[in-house]
Amino acid sequence: MTASAATDGAATTASAATSDSAAASDSAAATDSAAASESAAATDSPRTDTGGARTGISFARHPSGSPLPGQERARILASPGFGVAFTDHMITIRCTAERGWHDGRLEPYGPISLPPATSVFHYAQEIFEGLKAYRQHSGPIVAFRPQANAARFNRSAVRMAMPQLPEATFVRALELLVTQDRDWVPTAEGHSLYLRPFMIATHPGLGVSRPSPSYLFVVIASPAGPYFSAGPVSVWLAENYTRAAPGGTGEAKCGGNYAGGFAGQQEALAHGCDQVVWLDAVEHRWVEEMGGMNLFFVYGSGRSARIMTPALTGTLLPGITRDALLTLGPDLGIPAEEGRISVEQWRAGCESGEITEVFACGTAAVITPVATIKGATGSWTVGGAEPGPVTSRLKEQLLGIQFGSLPDPHGWIHKII
Ligand SMILES: Cc1ncc(COP(=O)(O)O)c(C=O)c1O
Repeated sequence: MTASAATDGAATTASAATSDSAAASDSAAATDSAAASESAAATDSPRTDTGGARTGISFARHPSGSPLPGQERARILASPGFGVAFTDHMITIRCTAERGWHDGRLEPYGPISLPPATSVFHYAQEIFEGLKAYRQHSGPIVAFRPQANAARFNRSAVRMAMPQLPEATFVRALELLVTQDRDWVPTAEGHSLYLRPFMIATHPGLGVSRPSPSYLFVVIASPAGPYFSAGPVSVWLAENYTRAAPGGTGEAKCGGNYAGGFAGQQEALAHGCDQVVWLDAVEHRWVEEMGGMNLFFVYGSGRSARIMTPALTGTLLPGITRDALLTLGPDLGIPAEEGRISVEQWRAGCESGEITEVFACGTAAVITPVATIKGATGSWTVGGAEPGPVTSRLKEQLLGIQFGSLPDPHGWIHKII
């Protein structure tokens, strides 16, 4: 299946209704209403999600008969960590060359059974996304720019020769899961429900001449507390390893990028640092990003402060937090620009005082100050043990919008319930 053929998979699916045996075996579940026309949606049973009329795919609902007892859930939510506990349900949608996207389901969270020859195990045809559902102070549960994640997911899909999923289906899948597992959305200050949509190649076979003709899209959810346990992070400059090269997959959110990054992260830990900073593949001196986060450099202070983030050269991930901060900076009177900075410039800027703060940003860890930089040729520091004023203002602004204590002038908040 080519990416473009799969783009209209939902349309293909819409005219190819079939009954779904698992759904049929659940007396209350409707048949798989892949034929999600307005009229089909109108006659759906109460347990089929009629959002299909909007997305082109509808979802048979098979809620868990044994969700985690409330007391157990409360114990997890009291100290959720990051990515260690998962909610009671997941969403799955299948895609084949013949039927396009079909068989949307909400079902109990559980193992996925695949033959050992399945191509994802061998050739890593896999992409994923990461975003959060926030319980706002005034009650609603919302997501932050989920359409941007849907669009990035599809750009990753194109790069990895995988089918695109209609953006509305991507967003609907998130809404359904969060609505079903709403009791898992934390109430504690700064906590949220991390959503992990992903897609894997499911064709059983070892041939490498073409991409898989079948795929599985899944969304799982995990309650999340703070990503970094405390304070500013120290970073290691990866001069021996390269995360991404021009023409490679650096700007796609594919699992292989992260597998290739673990050795650099281990090197960072071995040097007593929290995180790895990736440099460009050609000269090994231009700063790209940090682990799973983008970087920002603050120049100057007070009224003359401005922020700069490495430009999107194709080798770093276009972060949605990064993009938001490029707008929020100017909103706060802090000019923001995309540019480039070498390791030598970073060091010289800190030593001269021109660079006053450095921070990393991303969905998981929000905004995290960087305090110590180490590399093969030495180390230096930036700022103190506390986040600097620009870092703090931007973080407050972003969290204020996400948790609803500040207005959302850019329409980034997507209400789920
Ligand atoms: C490599 C990498 N860079 C940057 C980011 C930050 O992206 P976002 O702000 O969309 O979470 C992430 C996280 O998704 C990432 O994995």
